[in-house]
This record gives sequence, structure tokens and C-alpha cells, in this order.
Amino acid sequence: MGAWKEYLDATKYANQPESPQKQGVVQPPLQMPFDPAARLISLPDPQDCPIDCLGFKKLVQTRTSLRKYSKEALTVHEMSYLLWATQGVKEVNEAKGFTLRTVPSAGARHPFETYLLINNVNGVEKGLYRYLALEHVLLLVSDDPSINQTITEGCLGQKQVANSAVTFCWVADMARTYWRYSERAYRYLLLDAGHVCQNLYLAAESIHCGVCAIAAYDDDLMDAALGLDGTHQFTAYIASLGKRA
Ligand SMILES: Cc1cc2nc3c(=O)[nH]c(=O)nc-3n(C[C@H](O)[C@H](O)[C@H](O)COP(=O)(O)O)c2cc1C
Repeated sequence: MGAWKEYLDATKYANQPESPQKQGVVQPPLQMPFDPAARLISLPDPQDCPIDCLGFKKLVQTRTSLRKYSKEALTVHEMSYLLWATQGVKEVNEAKGFTLRTVPSAGARHPFETYLLINNVNGVEKGLYRYLALEHVLLLVSDDPSINQTITEGCLGQKQVANSAVTFCWVADMARTYWRYSERAYRYLLLDAGHVCQNLYLAAESIHCGVCAIAAYDDDLMDAALGLDGTHQFTAYIASLGKRA
């Protein structure tokens, strides 16, 4: 009892400054801002996606990390389903300033933005996109033909990125979690990221796709490729995805 109590007293919130929330700082927005003039691509409603999913027990058993993909393109319905499964917004509480999503998040802070390297999705041009979860649309970030190479280099040349149908890059918008939890936010956001990627693994498995989680990447190259400052907003986790061969 003594040892635990000392440990908790020393580490809990004792040495931490008051969180921005407790200091009365206004909460950051639920989503990073975007240029309203940007090109937006609407996605089908995930509830209407004609997707026949595998049973849960089977998909948990068969899930593995997959690094080689078929050349078959994803449909936009599948894309919509995967985005819903990883960051889909189920409820927006305007009054209290939080969202409830398909994944858990410490304090419902939901600190992530999903950037997508799209290489092979029917009806969507290759490029770098951002998923606007509140609107359930894709926003074109870059149609530079070298973006695949740039992101692959950021991932230390891992070929599953270059050959993926889509690579998910989860970007932490730190203020959303830091506002409430100060320094502990760094711990929480890494835990949050695990939930998001696991949902991607399981959702992908359910539609005969495979995923490879990626944490071996160059922070500076990835943040530069996505246009992030690397401090307030930074790449937190990556996952490549494609149809099973
Ligand atoms: C946090 C994390 C980071 C990972 N980073 C990479 C990576 O950069 N490259 C890679 O090929 N696999 C990566 N993996 C996949 C692991 O190698 C894989 O999960 C592990 O070998 C177990 O295999 P399984 O997922 O098929 O069960 C990562 C997995 C996790 C959970």
C-alpha cells in the first residue's frame, strides 16, 4: 500500500501545472480547419454501403499484418466503410464540445485527423487526401504525382506503402487532448491511436483486405510530406492497406 501510494502521489497529477481547460482556456476546435474552397469528394453513407462482412470470431482469428496486396482497387463504398470504422462520428455534442465516434478516445477528445495516400480506389484520383470526419468527405491535399514516392520514403522505403491501395496516416492534433490532460495527453493519444489502427485491421479483414501497421517512419519526412509543424500537429501512426491477393 505504502509503495503504491508514494508512487501515485509522486507521479499522478501532483507536479503538473493546471491543464489549459482548468485554466479556463477555450477548447480547440473538434477538427483542424480547412479551406472551404478546397476540392471535396463526398463519400457514400457508411450505413448504406453494400458490404458483406465476415463474422467477428473468424476475422479476429484470421487477422494478420499483410504487406503484399492484390492489384484490385478498393471501391469507394469500402473506403467509406473503413473511414467510418476508424474515425466515424456517431454523435456531435455541440453544447459540451465533443464527439462520440466508432472508436474510444480518452475524454472523447478524439485528437486525430486521418490523411490518406490514395493509390487505387475506384473513382478517386491518386493523391493525398484528408478525411473530414464531421462532414464524412475527403478533401484533396495534393495531387502531386510524386506523393506516393514521398510518403514511401517517409516510411523508410517500406514497399507495402508504395503498393498499397490506401495508406492511412493518423495525425495528432495535440491541442485537443492537451487542453484537458496537459502532459498526460502524450500517453493518451498513443493509446487512442492503437484503438484506431486495431479497428482498421478488423474492418479491413472483414472485407477481405489486409493492413500493416507502421511505426518505423521518419518523423521529419512524414510531417513535411503532410504539411505539419511536427510539434502541435504530427504523424502519430501509419497503416498501409490493400485487397488480399
Ligand atoms: C506499433 C506497431 C508498429 C509496427 N510497425 C511496423 C512497421 O513499421 N513495419 C512493418 O512491416 N510492420 C510493423 N508492424 C507490424 C508488426 O510487425 C506485426 O504486428 C507483428 O509482426 C505481428 O504480426 P501480426 O500483426 O501478423 O500478428 C507494427 C505493429 C505495431 C503494433
